[in-house]
Amino acid sequence: MWTGELEVRDDVEVRGPRPHEVVVRIVNAGLCHSDVSVLNGTIPFPTPVVLGHEGAGIVEEIGSAVRKVQIGDHVVLTTLGSCGLCDACDRGQPTHCRDTMGKLSRPFTVGGEKAFQFANAGVFTERTVVAESQAVVIPKEMPLTAACLIGCAVVTGAGAVINRAKVQPGQTVVVIGAGGIGQSVIQAARISAAGRIVVIDANPGKEAVARRFGATDFLDGSTFTGDGELVQAVKDLGLPNGVDHAFECVGHPALIRQAIDLLDWGGQCILLGVPKLGTEASFVVNALYNDKSIMGCRYGSTRPHHDIPMFVNFYLDGRLQLDEMVSQVYDLADIQEALKDMKAGTLNRGVLSLS
Ligand SMILES: NC(=O)c1ccc[n+]([C@@H]2O[C@H](COP(=O)([O-])OP(=O)(O)OC[C@H]3O[C@@H](n4cnc5c(N)ncnc54)[C@H](O)[C@@H]3O)[C@@H](O)[C@H]2O)c1
Ligand SMILES: [Zn+2]
Ligand SMILES: [Zn+2]
Repeated sequence: MWTGELEVRDDVEVRGPRPHEVVVRIVNAGLCHSDVSVLNGTIPFPTPVVLGHEGAGIVEEIGSAVRKVQIGDHVVLTTLGSCGLCDACDRGQPTHCRDTMGKLSRPFTVGGEKAFQFANAGVFTERTVVAESQAVVIPKEMPLTAACLIGCAVVTGAGAVINRAKVQPGQTVVVIGAGGIGQSVIQAARISAAGRIVVIDANPGKEAVARRFGATDFLDGSTFTGDGELVQAVKDLGLPNGVDHAFECVGHPALIRQAIDLLDWGGQCILLGVPKLGTEASFVVNALYNDKSIMGCRYGSTRPHHDIPMFVNFYLDGRLQLDEMVSQVYDLADIQEALKDMKAGTLNRGVLSLS
C-alpha cells in the first residue's frame, strides 16, 4: 500500500553548517526502497521530511572546526553520524554507535516550516547539511551518478557480504530479491569468489541483470506457490544440503523462513530486507542446531571511511559494475515517474539528478 504523500517543492531551505558540519550540493541521489517504505508507512518517520539517503555531491560550505573535508571536494554521503568517541566507535563498529539511530534533526525548512532530515541525510534536495564524518571524499574521476549508489545500496549489500557474512572463496550463496541491495550482494559475492550464487526474484525480468553481476543460477520466485517449493528448487540445482549464506533482500517473513530453511550446516541467514515495524518471522528451532545462524545486518556493518574508498577502487578497477546498476537518471521533478517505474519493477536503481 502506498499511502504517503510526496510533494516536490521549490521552497526548501537548509541551515548553514555548525562547526563540525558541511553543506553538500547534491548532484545525484539513488532511489532506495527504504525511501518508499517511509512513504507507505513501513518505516515510520515524522513529517514534513526531506527524503533520500543515497547521495553524492560537492562540498559547498564547511563549518569552522572542519579539518578533513574541503570546499569543492566530491563526496559520497553516509547516513551514519557516528560520534567517534564511544566504545563502539573505538572498536571499529560505528553501526553500533548509539548516536547513529533515533536522533532526529530538522535542518531544513519547507515553506518556512521546520522539516526533518531522513536517515541523517535528506538528499532529495539541492543542498543538505551533514556531519563532517558523513562526507567521505572520493576521487573526482568517479562519476557521481555511480558514486551515489555506494551511499546505501553498495554499502548495505556488499558490506553485508564482506563485513557481516564474510563469504569465503568457493562458498555457496543465495540472494532473495535482486533490487539495488540484492545486486550489490551478488556483485560482492562474485568479488569474494563465491562458488555458486543463486538468485531468486519474483520479477523474471531481473534474470539478465542478476547474471551480468555474477549470478550462476536464477529462479523466478513468482512461479513458487506452496511452502517449501523455493527451497526444493534451490536444492534441485545440485545443492542438496542447502547453502552457506542466504541473504534476504526483500523484507518478507515468508522469504525469511525460506532463507533459513535453505541453510546448510554452519550456514548463515543474513537479514537485509526491512519489513513493517513489529513484524515477526518463525523458524523450526531444532533445524538450527547444526551451528546455523540468523544475522541482522544494518547498513552492511560498515566502517564508511574504510569501505567507501574500497568500493570506489572496486569500481575504478572494473570489479564493481555501478554504471550498469543505474537504469535511468531522472530530474527531481520526475520523481513520481521514478517511483512508478520502481514499483513496476522496470528499474535496477533509479537515480535522480539534482543540480
Ligand atoms: N539493512 C539495511 O541496512 C538496509 C539498507 C537499505 C535498504 N534495506 C531494505 O532492503 C530491502 C530491499 O531494498 P532495495 O532498495 O533493493 O529494494 P528494490 O525495491 O530495489 O528491490 C526489491 C526486489 O525484490 C524483489 N521482490 C519483491 N517481492 C519478492 C518476492 N516475494 N520474492 C522474490 N523477490 C521479490 C523485487 O522484484 C525487486 O527486484 C528493502 O526492504 C529496504 O528497506 C535495508
Ligand atoms: Zn537505503
Ligand atoms: Zn560512537
